[in-house]
Amino acid sequence: MTSPIEQTLILVKPDGVKRRLIGEIISRIEAKGYHLVAVKMIEPELSLLQAHYREHEGKPFYQPLLDFMQSGPIVAMIAEGERVIEGFRSIAGATDPTVAAPGSIRGDLARDQGTKVVQNLVHGSDSVESAKREIGIFFPELKK
Ligand code: RTP
Ligand code: MG
Repeated sequence: MTSPIEQTLILVKPDGVKRRLIGEIISRIEAKGYHLVAVKMIEPELSLLQAHYREHEGKPFYQPLLDFMQSGPIVAMIAEGERVIEGFRSIAGATDPTVAAPGSIRGDLARDQGTKVVQNLVHGSDSVESAKREIGIFFPELKK
């Protein structure tokens, strides 16, 4: 079986940066065997986050999510490799850190903090289409 090489957008969210987990998270991505092709720390504009999270507009956690994502710097990365989109979501673990599998980033390093929106350390694109769209939003300078 051959798989095409993919790229995915990964974010270390403000909780991950505040908790000094950037290195731990990057270590897990690299130890799994994926290749980082771009990394930057940013404080994203509201308009960028609105574009990124447009699928969640209108949901009860939408505004708390925007507020949380603007609560401090984040690290944006592009990781590359065969099936990296699926593979990163596997090492990230389930959205809800309370039940995310032990061994995953969220399962090992995060928990419910009683906040309005779940704080779960990382974001990873969920499809080839989302990855292309999200990489374009966070890395417009790389557009071919
Ligand atoms: P992500 O996009 O961050 O990789 O996470 P995901 O696919 O596992 O989760 P998604 O459904 O796309 O939701 C995006 C982010 O919104 C927050 N969220 N909170 N019920 C809630 O409180 C709730 N649901 C989602 C999380 O920060 C989630 O990662
Ligand atoms: Mg998502």
